[in-house]
Amino acid sequence: MSLPAWLKDAVFYEIYPQSFYDSNADGIGDLEGIIQKLGYVKSLGCNALWINPCFESPFMDAGYDVSDYKKIAPRYGANEDAKRLFEEAHKRGMKVLFDLVPGHTSDRHPWFRQSRKPERNEYSDRYIWTPNVFLYPEHYRWVSGVQDRDGNYMVNFFSSQPALNYGFEQRDEFWQLSPEDPACVSTLEAMKDVMRFWMDMGCDGFRVDMAASLVKNDPERTGIKRLWRNVREMFDRDYPENVLLSEWGDPEQSIDAGFHLDFYLHFESRGYNALFRDGNELSAGLSCYFSKEGRGDVTVFTKEYERRRAAARGRGYICLPTGNHDMVRLARRRTMAERKVAEAFILLMPTIPFIYYGDEIGLPYREGLVSKEGGFYRTGSRTPMQWTKGKNRGFSAADGELYLPVDPDPASPDAETQAGEEGSLLGFVKRLIALRHREEELQAGDNFEVLYAEKGKYPFIFRRGKFVVAVNPSGENAEAPLEGNYKEVLSVNAAARAEGGIVSVPAVSLTLFCAE
Ligand code: GLC
Ligand code: CA
Repeated sequence: MSLPAWLKDAVFYEIYPQSFYDSNADGIGDLEGIIQKLGYVKSLGCNALWINPCFESPFMDAGYDVSDYKKIAPRYGANEDAKRLFEEAHKRGMKVLFDLVPGHTSDRHPWFRQSRKPERNEYSDRYIWTPNVFLYPEHYRWVSGVQDRDGNYMVNFFSSQPALNYGFEQRDEFWQLSPEDPACVSTLEAMKDVMRFWMDMGCDGFRVDMAASLVKNDPERTGIKRLWRNVREMFDRDYPENVLLSEWGDPEQSIDAGFHLDFYLHFESRGYNALFRDGNELSAGLSCYFSKEGRGDVTVFTKEYERRRAAARGRGYICLPTGNHDMVRLARRRTMAERKVAEAFILLMPTIPFIYYGDEIGLPYREGLVSKEGGFYRTGSRTPMQWTKGKNRGFSAADGELYLPVDPDPASPDAETQAGEEGSLLGFVKRLIALRHREEELQAGDNFEVLYAEKGKYPFIFRRGKFVVAVNPSGENAEAPLEGNYKEVLSVNAAARAEGGIVSVPAVSLTLFCAE
């Protein structure tokens, strides 16, 4: 199994297409808008994109409910625009990953329209049905009695998202098909055909939605691993430079299953929340490590990370996102100084960094918005990118309503203002990414050694080759032992001092040292 060389120096940028840039003043972002802003993304130093689903859809789940896998949703443009996006990105040395939703379709997808018919047809077993409406096996979710076919269909997420049939690894009921059943094989072949369609057009791979969930009743994960290894073979054989990135959150499983990349996520990973999100839902405030409250425990992360790192070593990479379209934004309940420290840390880790659009300027989480397209609490993390101080914050020239409102607060951040500001978050993000590109030792890989990480204590210190990072997200100055002589390369908010075997790290700061 080969690992494309470009991944080592990859810095990803996640784009939620609805909210990035509206090129034709209809109030919603589009592919042409992304093309027009490629120069901006490139200027950050990002060299790869992940674009949330942009396929035809009734948008009951923001496009994660696909009704045509091979067609760009008209509100975003046409397939020609996708082709141009790939070309324009490649001209700039950038890669583009699309979002593949293989686990379920929209209930409006033509396959499902056929499948729900009482007469048996080619698509009857493309989805998971019980043999009659009165059969309700527990521990799965079913929709019942809304069509003439006698049976309930399984859903993966919302009721409008029927689960595609990749079979059951362990079968307790006669109607559960084996993953090797021709109907299940044809589901997978249909999905491989979709992947080929976009990759032949220039797409560089996929972020795979709910990647672990395809084969049902698979406690040992043997069925799901067989499935993805089959897909990986296609990549290695026909698309060796392209990549598969899983929304799985468990690299010990996913890398083994054949994924090149897997995420740290706000679910499935104690470590991610322990660093960045714990306490977010409570009025008591943040209890994660990256907070000036100073109540976090970094060892929850380091212990988990060491295990995962060992599992991925030489076979794949782990990705550490600043956030994504499913979590509350990093900016929530953090000052700009705290955001800088958290993002600098992410950019200095040996994981592959993913910047969620807007996090590079500290775009806020918008409290209390009415749910949009199945967003619910996630809606507040999906508001338009803020480009300028001008009309609609530069997102759109529309006079009418936008996909979601921009922040009415005039002090809310925007890219243009921060580009002209000494010491802005945007400025740090650019500097750190540039440094990462320049210094191989700061790129993704295995060179990482924890020098100081103690339960419930600050700072956190780690080595990457000749570099040492000392980070103290808490609101109190902190000290730790550090042998050797170092000079400062760069500091965020305030500089740490290393002297006489001790490093003193000011409150809410990060310093990057280099061995003398
Ligand atoms: C993934 C997506 C999320 C979507 C869900 C169902 O978790 O990231 O946005 O709602 O899958 O497809
Ligand atoms: Ca538009």
